[in-house]
Amino acid sequence: MVKDPFTGQTREMLMFGSNNYLGLADHPYIKEKVIEAIEQFGVGIGGPPMLNGYTRLMRELEDRLAEFKCTESAIIFPTGYQANLSLVSCLTERSDLLLVDEAHHASLFDGLKMIETPYLTYRHNDVEDLEELLIAHRDEARDAFVFVEGVHSMDSDLAPIPELVKVCRKHSTYLVVDDAHGTGVVGKTGRGVAEHFDMEGEVDIMMGTFSKAFATVGGFVAGPSHIIAYLKFYARPYMFSAALPPTVLATVHACLDILEREPERVQQLRDNVDYISEGLRTQGFELNPQGGSIPLLVPREMNIRKAAYAFHELGLFMNPIEWPAVPYDKQRFRISIMSTHTREDLDRLLAAVEYVWARESVRK
Ligand SMILES: Cc1ncc(COP(=O)(O)O)c(C=O)c1O
Repeated sequence: MVKDPFTGQTREMLMFGSNNYLGLADHPYIKEKVIEAIEQFGVGIGGPPMLNGYTRLMRELEDRLAEFKCTESAIIFPTGYQANLSLVSCLTERSDLLLVDEAHHASLFDGLKMIETPYLTYRHNDVEDLEELLIAHRDEARDAFVFVEGVHSMDSDLAPIPELVKVCRKHSTYLVVDDAHGTGVVGKTGRGVAEHFDMEGEVDIMMGTFSKAFATVGGFVAGPSHIIAYLKFYARPYMFSAALPPTVLATVHACLDILEREPERVQQLRDNVDYISEGLRTQGFELNPQGGSIPLLVPREMNIRKAAYAFHELGLFMNPIEWPAVPYDKQRFRISIMSTHTREDLDRLLAAVEYVWARESVRK
């Protein structure tokens, strides 16, 4: 049920705006496990991991995440945002070369602001452009880092991991992949973009979040033990923020159980994305989304707010993404698909897009 801001009434809407990609947010098994955790541990912890906040549930989850991402070790943060802040602000210093995908998530750019270290951007997912920068600047730097999103949050395209690994190795550079939208979404068993490319264990540092496919809040970084240990003692967003409560840790444990038991959810999500993509292509849209979301670019002559209202009237919850979150000529609806959407739900979405595009394509 959603409160309608226009009428003040609550109404049922069909959700196409949540990153709960695997539909786990209200899964009975997960709810049961969270209730068990509350009964055993209570609801909160009241301190950061460095003090009293490091619990058995956290240690066990770190181990499971490290295994899930085929790395030696993992660290858990209160949010994915803080994981990214930590990666940049803690692992890098002024003498390093930082190369950032121009379309990277805001959390990484905010991390860069914390340290005021100069950085360079390369064109989105463009390995040639990246290598030119490495050739020009690698020798001047002590360490070098490349930052990229595994499945892009807005464009839903995949980072070319095999080529990135190759170029980073060639230039002795760390590859840091933000797999917020790949974890639980791509790869045969939902292990993310490295599994998708059959390159597990080849990416130096993986970041992920619990706020998408794991349907709660929190984030993590997985990588070599010495890097994770360093983050635990020097990452300020880790040190100066309370640890995740048992409720959240139990949620992620239970999500991993479900993913192990029901990997077919990942394929179901893929099938749903493919079904919608095919339907939209038939309507004339050019798109090829690889993740759980579909970017529906709005033509120049369309007023995105009016179109959003039209979807709202039809009972569809859709997120319009406007400038400055994306460039003005790339405003879009970001349609989030879930593995639990039925064919009927998906057909309703296709019919709604056709109707809204026919009605709103001319600016009124
Ligand atoms: C690519 C990417 N990285 C990081 C984050 C931050 O994650 P969290 O919501 O856990 O803070 C997000 C969330 O929108 C994201 O899309």
